[in-house]
Amino acid sequence: MSRPVQPGSGALTLTGQAPTVKVGMVLVLDVNVLGRKVGTLRRVGDEYVFQYDPGVAPEQFVSLAMPVRMQPWTWPRDLHPYFRQNLPEGFLLSVIQEDFGRLLDGTDLSVLAVVGSASIGRVTLTLQGQAATTPLDEFDVGTVLHGDNTHEHFAELVRHHARAAISGAVPKFLAPEALAAAEVDALPQAEAAGLGKPSMRTGRYIVKGSDDKTPYLGFNEFYSMRLIERIGAVPVAKTIMSDDGRVLLVERFDVDQNGVPVRGVEDLCGLLGLPPNEKYSPSTEQVVKAARAYFASDRWSDNARRLAWLILATYVVRNADCHAKNIALTYTDADDVEFTPVYDMVTTQAYPQYAKNPPALTIDGRRTWAAGSTLSRFFGTRLNIPAKEYARMVEALCDAAVDTGKEVIARSDERPEWRGVAKNMVHAWNDGMESLRSVKPDASLRELTSSIDEARFSGPGKSPAEEKQGRSSLLPKRGGRAF
Ligand SMILES: Nc1ncnc2c1ncn2[C@@H]1O[C@H](COP(=O)(O)OP(=O)(O)O)[C@@H](O)[C@H]1O
Ligand SMILES: [Mg+2]
Repeated sequence: MSRPVQPGSGALTLTGQAPTVKVGMVLVLDVNVLGRKVGTLRRVGDEYVFQYDPGVAPEQFVSLAMPVRMQPWTWPRDLHPYFRQNLPEGFLLSVIQEDFGRLLDGTDLSVLAVVGSASIGRVTLTLQGQAATTPLDEFDVGTVLHGDNTHEHFAELVRHHARAAISGAVPKFLAPEALAAAEVDALPQAEAAGLGKPSMRTGRYIVKGSDDKTPYLGFNEFYSMRLIERIGAVPVAKTIMSDDGRVLLVERFDVDQNGVPVRGVEDLCGLLGLPPNEKYSPSTEQVVKAARAYFASDRWSDNARRLAWLILATYVVRNADCHAKNIALTYTDADDVEFTPVYDMVTTQAYPQYAKNPPALTIDGRRTWAAGSTLSRFFGTRLNIPAKEYARMVEALCDAAVDTGKEVIARSDERPEWRGVAKNMVHAWNDGMESLRSVKPDASLRELTSSIDEARFSGPGKSPAEEKQGRSSLLPKRGGRAF
């Protein structure tokens, strides 16, 4: 997908908090890896062109799929998949469009001009010739951990900290934590002196909120992640839940302790050459094949198991949203690629309007929670995981679902407003355990039932349409994709 193109030229300036635009000029962005310029990105006619600078070292590649070379990398009509990976979506994008609309020309390239200097991963984009002179405002994480996280208030925070490149539909933002004086002193000298790196501090946490459709998402994601984490078999992103269960701080795996990006992150959507809106389209087999190409052969076995745990966990917690953007690779160089720690694990079935959604990606051409032998066959043929090991993994996940489910129930006593989501989560995990262990219904496999009864939880919540009107076949198709 590449052939030489004659690069265009031109300029647009975006400085400090008060950007100025020279209308009608061609937009050219500098592309930086770990803060060092490695090339330029521009639109030429109907194509986007990324050109490495002469003399860039091979390890300073922008994407595993775009190694360093003299010939430009071109992509027709839209930005190259890597450059689309961290484009803001959902609420964050709408805020950016409102606040920076006058700087946007309708292209994703102009969105990157606004937000690309602070991003997930080791690549940043800045206006040609301009350093990233707009460090993000600092942020005290205590304000969300212990403060008011109503939707209105969180929306204000997202608006204030909107200038960063991070994808996903859930309202969220990146912001460097405010440092105490002693911590500032401990920063590397160049940073403390205000040279070079400070503008790259984008924070140690992703701050994720909830919206009306997904109440107490922080609670849901915290305990869904905890389920897989307690097995201890795979790295899982560390999370901290706010006191009210509405917000989750997700510790980033791509930054150092000062919040400076140090690792590359590439999701499988981009590595498959797909734009973000096609994240549900690849099969799990395609995901495995695309990922495997980047692993040294001696690293595959461990990493196949990481992927296996991720996939299986989605079946236990009933996460219908493990699409190709929620599976990603991370690295410091092309020879130390690994799957990222597990992130964005949510019991989507806990939200009635999404409760009927099947798994995000097909396996053997099908999307079904009752996968039966398809799943163990897939593990054997694609991931080299023998049937016995597969069975042990299933049981470990079910044990973790029981233990974590009891915790969820105990926690829901603390706040009456958590009971609804907690109830739906443990019902979903009960379903997950049963369907993973057997294609036929078998109540004895639903090991959370006695705990659910003791808690006096009613049945799983129904979607508003079901509650009001019953399940008429004339109703519009429910579901949609939320995340
Ligand atoms: N712990 C993490 N460290 C670094 N990057 C992350 C981490 N968790 C998520 N990401 C990146 O941020 C993106 C959005 O986060 P995610 O939790 O998936 O949000 P959403 O629920 O809105 O999809 C992910 O697709 C991934 O690129
Ligand atoms: Mg996601």
